[in-house]
Amino acid sequence: MKTQVVIIGSGPAGLLLSEILHRHGIESLVLERQTREYVLSRIRAGVLESTTVDVLRANGLSERMDREGHPHDGMRIAWAGRDSFLVDTASTLGRRFMVYGQTAIQEDLYAAADRRGQTVLTEVQDVVLHEFDGRPGAKPYVTYTRHGQAGRVDCEFIAGCDGFHGVSRRSIPESVRKEYEKVYPFGWLGVMARVKPLPDITYVNHPQGFALASYRNSQLSRYYIQVPVDDKVEAWSDDRFWSELTARFPAEMAEMIETGPTIEKSIAPLRSFVSEPMRYGALYLCGDAAHIVPPTGAKGLNLAVSDVFYLSRALASWYGQGKDELLNNYSAMALRRVWSSVRTSWYLTTLLHRFPHFSDFDQKAQEHELDYLKNSRFAQAALAEQYAGLPFEMVS
Ligand code: FAD
Ligand code: DHB
Repeated sequence: MKTQVVIIGSGPAGLLLSEILHRHGIESLVLERQTREYVLSRIRAGVLESTTVDVLRANGLSERMDREGHPHDGMRIAWAGRDSFLVDTASTLGRRFMVYGQTAIQEDLYAAADRRGQTVLTEVQDVVLHEFDGRPGAKPYVTYTRHGQAGRVDCEFIAGCDGFHGVSRRSIPESVRKEYEKVYPFGWLGVMARVKPLPDITYVNHPQGFALASYRNSQLSRYYIQVPVDDKVEAWSDDRFWSELTARFPAEMAEMIETGPTIEKSIAPLRSFVSEPMRYGALYLCGDAAHIVPPTGAKGLNLAVSDVFYLSRALASWYGQGKDELLNNYSAMALRRVWSSVRTSWYLTTLLHRFPHFSDFDQKAQEHELDYLKNSRFAQAALAEQYAGLPFEMVS
């Protein structure tokens, strides 16, 4: 087989890239390790920055999001025993964000791929990247096995959209890669429940640990609590979860939390990770393949979309006008936005969680920072700008 761009991974990054490339007349083929059902069943992020919403709208992917998503003016921060405050991105920056689940985006992307007859080969194993180091005369290709048969796709570019555990990043020689990593000493237990949600996305700092209220629709709530990283889901009965969650919210909010049977429960570790550069020869990394952020701040999915925006623009400029400047700048440009979100996610994680090593001093400093945020419109404006996400860098 032959195509212009082989895309490894059919998560949000891979399928969105194939969609935008198609709109520019660029052919791609997507290789996915899992089944489609498995990819569609993953429950992950829920908050879309306005830039992400713009990209989905500009590429004909917003019909259901505009119908079923929930626009928001800001997010709320609460902490033990005090009034909460709203970090208002709408009044500060004129930008709202959208609550619309990654699961729904993934469904929309697969439906769009089906409509245009996109080739997505699922259940591929043993993906190996070849001749992609950019040597003159090198002709990139990717090999794999599928249902016991060996396969090969020749191409001009490879997009590594295969997430943190994928093969693409690890195919770049170690001597070229520089990795930056911070692992946090706790995880998030997330649940989904068919109960009425709180009106605002609310991040809570509490002596027993962080908690977060979010939602998917008027009868579907998404909640998270900080738990020890080695905790097992089985140790968390629904009763134990609800009682721990409500203990962490200020009393007047806890009273409004509806409880009920949970329909999903999982524990995710928290990590900040960046691998540089994001390009090596004909290989370009997008999304979690190149970077991971802790979920505080809801940046992971949004960063995948911004990488795809920059890479699709660069490939369109190459195939449309024969210009390689944007391809050459891809890594540096994408990384500027990545580091901005990595820093914001690290800051919010540090501000809102209870770290096992915290001394009384650390505790006081954290509480003072929250007081300062609550009382300073300048501090709130700075946080609103970071939560809303930087605008994309435009080029003439
Ligand atoms: P992925 O969604 O990981 O997609 C990568 C795809 O590549 C997968 O389908 C995978 O099966 C496939 N793949 C992997 N290896 C190979 C291979 N060798 N060959 C072929 N295909 C391969 N972000 C938030 O903002 N908020 C959250 O609450 C949140 N929760 C999360 C919970 C979990 C458990 C995880 C893992 C992530 C969470 N994230 C969250 C992050 C967010 O979901 C990711 O940033 C987003 O999915 C990135 O999209 P992606 O397409 O880059 O990667
Ligand atoms: C959600 C996830 C996040 O990581 C976050 O910061 C806010 C909301 C969610 O799943 O809705």
